[in-house]
Amino acid sequence: MISIISGSNRKNSECLRFATLIFERVSQLAGEPTKLLALEEIPHDWFFPEMYDKGKQNKGLADIQDEYILGADKFIFVIPEYNGTFPGALKLFIDAVSVRQYKDNFKLKKAGLVGISSGRAGNTRGMDHFTTVLHHLGASVLPNQLPISRIHDLMNDSGEVTDAPTLEVLDKFIRELLDF
Ligand SMILES: Cc1cc2nc3c(=O)[nH]c(=O)nc-3n(C[C@H](O)[C@H](O)[C@H](O)COP(=O)(O)O)c2cc1C
Repeated sequence: MISIISGSNRKNSECLRFATLIFERVSQLAGEPTKLLALEEIPHDWFFPEMYDKGKQNKGLADIQDEYILGADKFIFVIPEYNGTFPGALKLFIDAVSVRQYKDNFKLKKAGLVGISSGRAGNTRGMDHFTTVLHHLGASVLPNQLPISRIHDLMNDSGEVTDAPTLEVLDKFIRELLDF
């Protein structure tokens, strides 16, 4: 199973729009189940001091970990650039799911990274930073990352990404990840 994780909890994030597009493309191209997890849509009742105690963690968090993390063997993280790196909400989520059964989350699994930014960098630095985290957790990261810069120029008025070269590199990236 492939999990696509939209890496911001900001409401109506552009990251989720792009992650939804990726979800649709992967569902068409991959011959295996694909799921989309949006950090902005999950309950946020697991951010409290006891979150590091597995006996006191919220059950909803365990269900999300079971379904989208433990149940996946491949991941695509779609990560917006926040202050030059990946969002703190994404790290908080990784920390929260690392309390219970953390060894099986990412070890020997594979991941691809897509960076989103309004500026020119396409979150290349944030993808590098997040690669370090995933390597620490035992995952292998596809060397070819996909930076999407100037995201606002690529969307039409309805927020759909219609830019042909972007759709082309996206499909190439997805095919590489499926073969990885
Ligand atoms: C808290 C915050 C920090 C941001 N920092 C940067 C940044 O350092 N560089 C950049 O190019 N864009 C930055 N942005 C813009 C986002 O990368 C841009 O809006 C992009 O569409 C993805 O963010 P979103 O998924 O929250 O919409 C920032 C946005 C927010 C909300």
